Amino acid sequence: MSKNVVWSGGYVSTEEFENKAGHRSGVLWFTGLSGSGKSTLARAVQRQLFDNGWQVIVLDGDNIRHGLNKDLGFTEEDRIENIRRLSEVAALLQQHGNLVITAFISPYHENRKQAQGIIGAERFHEVYIEADLETCKKRDPKGLYEKVEKGEITRFTGISDPFEAPEDPALKIDTSNLTEQQAVEALISYIDTNFKL
Ligand SMILES: Nc1ncnc2c1ncn2[C@@H]1O[C@H](COP(=O)(O)OP(=O)(O)OP(=O)(O)O)[C@@H](O)[C@H]1O
Ligand SMILES: [Mg+2]
Repeated sequence: MSKNVVWSGGYVSTEEFENKAGHRSGVLWFTGLSGSGKSTLARAVQRQLFDNGWQVIVLDGDNIRHGLNKDLGFTEEDRIENIRRLSEVAALLQQHGNLVITAFISPYHENRKQAQGIIGAERFHEVYIEADLETCKKRDPKGLYEKVEKGEITRFTGISDPFEAPEDPALKIDTSNLTEQQAVEALISYIDTNFKL
């Protein structure tokens, strides 16, 4: 960074934004295998909260890779840069009174720690959207596991690239054993407890 870049402050505070929104802001950082249900649950939770007047933004891995991060691939280095940029975006959005739900595989422990550092520990809620690999393969909503099987994709999380499960997530949602509706209810209950003003 150039020495001539100076941070400028004094804008409307996060607390003022929160009071206007009527709820606390923060980031629910979903992590889990492909097909575990991150996007499905992020969408459903956003809809329910939005209908109740909340300001909820979903940052979804695939969509962001179409724009902001379209220059990045799936090497370890690129995955780390992908998450770094997204953490900065999530931090900005939460500073402006939004509840942000991120739906990225984010497979590396260190990288999620970095996200927590950028966003701030008290605003960062790690949510493990858990499903065993067999269940994810069976669901295969985007046909990706099939492509992996045929050798059309290399470096796929959970198969040829590691997934480091969270050791102590704020919340764990086991989608192998819950219906979508039960999973949404568990998330909403956590959000009510932690984000209602
Ligand atoms: N309890 C549940 N919660 C969420 N999804 C479920 C549940 N039970 C079954 N599913 C199904 O599992 C699939 C999850 O796919 P989804 O695209 O949400 O996964 P993802 O984690 O976003 O994957 P990716 O990392 O590839 O984007 C959907 O087809 C959904 O209908
Ligand atoms: Mg998804």
